[in-house]
Amino acid sequence: MSRLSSGQRHVVRFTLNGKPCSGEAEPRMLLTDFLRYQLGATGTHVGCEHGVCGACTVEIDGNLARACLTLAVQADGCAVRTVEGLAPAPARLGILHAAFKRNHALQCGFCTAGILMSLDNFLRENPKPSEQEIRDLLTGHLCRCTGYTPIVRAAMEAAAELAGDLAKEKSDA
Ligand code: FES
Ligand code: FES
Repeated sequence: MSRLSSGQRHVVRFTLNGKPCSGEAEPRMLLTDFLRYQLGATGTHVGCEHGVCGACTVEIDGNLARACLTLAVQADGCAVRTVEGLAPAPARLGILHAAFKRNHALQCGFCTAGILMSLDNFLRENPKPSEQEIRDLLTGHLCRCTGYTPIVRAAMEAAAELAGDLAKEKSDA
């Protein structure tokens, strides 16, 4: 549990993309604001702040969560992953990022961080998704720019590439 510090603020500690981090948060502070303003992790976007648009989607202890509906103090002691954690190294694109780039699956990019987080989580559990499953997943994300078709195409391409990687890992083992 978080500890109270001066001025009604709590010390919140968790791992962010595998690295320990900490900051202070008032009890009402949202995880979105904590990530962006306390930790400088601005990859997580804030759209509706009502749990509807999906822009703020992160992973907490392996489960997807709307960071705009999560208090920072609720993440204390957890493992938090954000879109920054999907890159294999700074300035390098992950498989999902690269597929989105190839397929022009973003325009303004506001929705993209959340969509990438949902896809990353889903594809690890479902390495061979149908197009309909991808479309169902995307019902939790609002994109005002793309019409979704390039996003679906990118997701299917990334799924095939990730499945190939998994199969190679198994045959090398
Ligand atoms: S900002 Fe969280 S769901 Fe829209
Ligand atoms: S790319 Fe603009 S909202 Fe999706």
